[in-house]
Amino acid sequence: MHVGIIMDGNGRWATKRGLPRLMGHKRGANRVKDIVKASPDLGVDTLTLYAFSTENWKRAAHEVEGLMKLFRGYLQNHFVELNEKNVRVRFLGDPSPLAADIRKQMELLTDLTKDNTLITLNIAINYGGRDELVRATRKIATLVKDGALDVADINEDTISAHLDTLQGDDPDLIIRTAGELRLSNFMTWQSAYSELAFVEKSWPEFTPKLFAEVLADYRSRTRQFGAVIPKTADISDT
Ligand code: FPP
Repeated sequence: MHVGIIMDGNGRWATKRGLPRLMGHKRGANRVKDIVKASPDLGVDTLTLYAFSTENWKRAAHEVEGLMKLFRGYLQNHFVELNEKNVRVRFLGDPSPLAADIRKQMELLTDLTKDNTLITLNIAINYGGRDELVRATRKIATLVKDGALDVADINEDTISAHLDTLQGDDPDLIIRTAGELRLSNFMTWQSAYSELAFVEKSWPEFTPKLFAEVLADYRSRTRQFGAVIPKTADISDT
């Protein structure tokens, strides 16, 4: 099962407690660790976390710097452990505006963990669903221009294959913390049939127990993907 999470509410969590917003992000980074650890036992084999959006650059410079420091720290501190724990790490988004050392760590970690099998952890940094579609469109247009692809052969699979998720599974469930009811440019293409869950608690308060409850609620839903699934009684009639 693939779960995407929009980790919202770090700032509000901190402000409510009279703390600087960056303290909220720090707490948030600890939550990342807890939730990644809890995921395999909860039946999650792919976890996609929205860590920094293409819009987040508009925040105050010191907050952006603080977040970058957190990513750097997370990559350094968890580099070996993520691999030892058999986690395959991938990054979504356009890395080009990120600091060279962060980009290098991202590349090394992606390469080091590429054959790991316990869980895939997609970390979305400088990610925007629309930006991802623009970049995919450019790649596809280049193939057409170079004569490697016929316009008539472009289909949904072509687009999926050129997204940052590399034709990976679409998220079965997208969770957003902190009470806002929108997707904010997260997995725009991939979310077409995703179930959505919005929780009131902020990301620093999102415990593995709460994660398990949200997953249990999801599992009680019936997903039909636009089709009509016959009831069990109807199936036994045929
Ligand atoms: C949204 O809260 C959160 C972010 C923009 C950053 C998410 C980053 C982390 C959880 C930290 C580290 C992540 C990794 C992968 C190591 P907000 O600041 O928008 O909260 P607000 O809406 O209350 O202001």
